[in-house]
Amino acid sequence: MNLCMIGSGYVGLVTGACFADLGNIVHCVDNDKNKIYNLNQGIIPIYEPGLSEMLKKSFKDKRLIFSTDLKKAVTNSDILFICVGTPMKKNSKSANLKYVYKVIRDIRKYIKKFKIIIIKSSIPVTTGDKIEKIIKSKVKRNLFEVVSNPEFLREGEAIRDFRYPDRIIIGTDNKKVSKILFNLYNPIIKKGAKYFITSRRGAELIKYASNAFLATKISYMNEIANLCEKTGVNSEDVSIGIGLDQRIGSRFLRVGPAFGGSCFPKDTRALVANAEKFKVNLSIIKSVIKSNENRRNLLTKRIFNIMSNKLKDKIITFLGVTFKPNTDDMRMSSSQTMIPKLLKKGAIIRYCEPTGKKKEFEKYKKVTFYSNAIKACFKSDLIIIHTEWDEFKSLEFKKIIKKVNFKVFDMRNLYSAEIMKKNKINYFSIGKKPI
Ligand SMILES: NC(=O)c1ccc[n+]([C@@H]2O[C@H](COP(=O)([O-])OP(=O)(O)OC[C@H]3O[C@@H](n4cnc5c(N)ncnc54)[C@H](O)[C@@H]3O)[C@@H](O)[C@H]2O)c1
Repeated sequence: MNLCMIGSGYVGLVTGACFADLGNIVHCVDNDKNKIYNLNQGIIPIYEPGLSEMLKKSFKDKRLIFSTDLKKAVTNSDILFICVGTPMKKNSKSANLKYVYKVIRDIRKYIKKFKIIIIKSSIPVTTGDKIEKIIKSKVKRNLFEVVSNPEFLREGEAIRDFRYPDRIIIGTDNKKVSKILFNLYNPIIKKGAKYFITSRRGAELIKYASNAFLATKISYMNEIANLCEKTGVNSEDVSIGIGLDQRIGSRFLRVGPAFGGSCFPKDTRALVANAEKFKVNLSIIKSVIKSNENRRNLLTKRIFNIMSNKLKDKIITFLGVTFKPNTDDMRMSSSQTMIPKLLKKGAIIRYCEPTGKKKEFEKYKKVTFYSNAIKACFKSDLIIIHTEWDEFKSLEFKKIIKKVNFKVFDMRNLYSAEIMKKNKINYFSIGKKPI
């Protein structure tokens, strides 16, 4: 089939690359000329394992076209996937839908024969109705169908998630469209993915409700971990013990810093704001948002305590600054809350990040990027293991730091507290009583 991804970010590029890999012709459109220029030169704008090879192969085989020409892409495609961002509004918690609406207004003029318009961007329930209305004002109703097909990929695992998703959610009551989409997704359905058809509004809400549920699970375990610390219980045992109950499941029960990334923080807020429009109070999700904010502050205070509030001129090294490994995404990462607060107290910050230097920290004079963990750690007063990249899992701190009385704050519990104690390292983990 001929497909068009409008918005070539994490979702658009991964979806485009994977559909092209299945033999479809895919037009990846973006209004960022630089991004499209780079893609045509083989320069991939994001870090996602396996994506670069996949994009390059399909590009070479002419199944992938990168372009800013929306008219051509829409005209030559049967199915249009809207994959633009839906960030949080500046002064409110609701989703900013201006990018989605702009694309919708732009594509209207090019719809001359039947198109399926798929909304992959995460949007508040009932947005599809508004989208349909906007198109209908200029295009005959029998020339288009607006479908919600929310995306559930995880950055860092995105290609695997496309190939082997738990489910494909399709929100439409149009049987013909549902059949076309079943055929499009058939190679994946054949491998075991559940194909679930619901109303468009249902699909929209499934996306936000799923993310809010996962965020709740993380915050819940983080709060239980706080109790573990005070009572001498190992939170890892509690996670395992809870997770063995199949009604609960073991995933998303790992203790760590506040959840971040491009989805959970904004989607939980957008869901609350969306519900408020319908006079529904989502008090549980509100508490989760608050709990997560508290966690950012709690772990920052923990750093102050570890350093006995003496941070002036102390070298603090962050191992990883992204919100999780295998992605370069910095959106809402807790490192962005912690680092400015540590700088205010006079600390000198270094960070080692496998996906490279981050523009978010360029404005700070006392923040230095290192591509090498060993160099970053040398002579540090405190190491903060912030992101669980594999390359941070087996560091010999004593050998590489070469300074007496350094401390390690392991926010991901990557190391054994017993071994650290044996090696006489001042080691602090989370969700456990210090040894
Ligand atoms: N990133 C994830 O892990 C993830 C997972 C599931 C769902 N989602 C949702 O998918 C959507 C996209 O997220 P993302 O992370 O890919 O965003 P992104 O910011 O990485 O990419 C969006 C792209 O859209 C482009 N764009 C904006 N306006 C445009 C226009 N008028 N015409 C053409 N291109 C335009 C931007 O230049 C950008 O390249 C969001 O709603 C997000 O919530 C994201």
